[in-house]
Amino acid sequence: MDIKYELKDKTQRRTEPLIPNEPLPFGVLRTDHMFIMDYEDGEWQNARIVPYEDIAISPGAIALHYGQAIFEGAKAFQHEDGEIYTFRIDKNAKRMNKSADIVCIPNIPEEIQIEAVHALIDVDRLWFPQQEGASLYIRPFIFATQDSLGVHPSSSYKFMVILSPSGPYYPAGFTKPIKLLITEKFHRAAPGGTGSSKAAGNYAASLRAGEFAKKFGASQVLYLDTTNTYIEEAGAMNHFHITKDGEVVIPEFVDSVLRSITSESIIELSDKLEMKVTQKRVKIKEFIEDVKDKKITEAGGFGTAAVISPVGEYVFEDGSSLVVGNGEIGENTKKIYEYYTGIQTGKVEAPKGWLRKVERKI
Ligand SMILES: Cc1ncc(COP(=O)(O)O)c(C=O)c1O
Repeated sequence: MDIKYELKDKTQRRTEPLIPNEPLPFGVLRTDHMFIMDYEDGEWQNARIVPYEDIAISPGAIALHYGQAIFEGAKAFQHEDGEIYTFRIDKNAKRMNKSADIVCIPNIPEEIQIEAVHALIDVDRLWFPQQEGASLYIRPFIFATQDSLGVHPSSSYKFMVILSPSGPYYPAGFTKPIKLLITEKFHRAAPGGTGSSKAAGNYAASLRAGEFAKKFGASQVLYLDTTNTYIEEAGAMNHFHITKDGEVVIPEFVDSVLRSITSESIIELSDKLEMKVTQKRVKIKEFIEDVKDKKITEAGGFGTAAVISPVGEYVFEDGSSLVVGNGEIGENTKKIYEYYTGIQTGKVEAPKGWLRKVERKI
């Protein structure tokens, strides 16, 4: 791909590595540049890296009215050799195209998406945060730009990538399990809907449930399927539980569940972790009984941002609650977290192809 570089003047750009004085928040900071490519006249064109700034879009842009927009979330890590490596970025590129299919957006070849991400990180590599546990969060996204008030797929789009130097999700260490609200009031996605895509609208639709959960002291909702029979997701994470025998169980990837790259990776690592990892439909009634009977001793959510969010307690709308294990972070959960973050940071050998070095080209 031919990328045009319209970079900030050298005097405006970072010249020293970023060394934060305080724990960096997640997703707040930006780097100096962004990547943009346009879809016009039936093709992706005009790839460029420009200074990070506001962009002009038409007030009638389809994305603003009908939510034809998708995104991805990935991370890059700096290893001891000083180089930056993206983690499973090919999986994000593939899932972006799957999301694109679901909301009628034209695909972008995976290698082009990866090249865009790597070129941008290369330009802004001094923004990699020098802080224990920190990473560069990568946010690629595509949105519909055609000015039209008819409901139909747009004829034009923008694909963009922005970066966020981010602190560890758990600045104080991996210490405090979260609470989830079990409710039949809200559902994230329906069969035949857009739940298996990272469509922007799925997240707008989840806000009300998230706010509702907070009223009960929970950070998120445990989403059930639309028949309230099976567990689907834990807020914007896949759900998992671990039995007293150490088996990790992740709900099946039905079409109302997002195929988490973290979950897929844990499944692929089961031999290395020496843990059985299975996927099945998980009945909420059985889950509750098994937690009560201590047949299930650990639970949580998997996702790129936090890697693992252990759940210590499930709460109900009547004020009752269900503690998992002893309410603390379990040994198996810790083991997965340490092994997985070890791979990402280069301390544990990564399976072939999981890490890609960001070459120095600029
Ligand atoms: C709804 C939902 N489920 C699960 C996940 C976890 O997916 P991943 O591990 O690929 O970040 C995410 C985050 O991307 C999500 O938004």
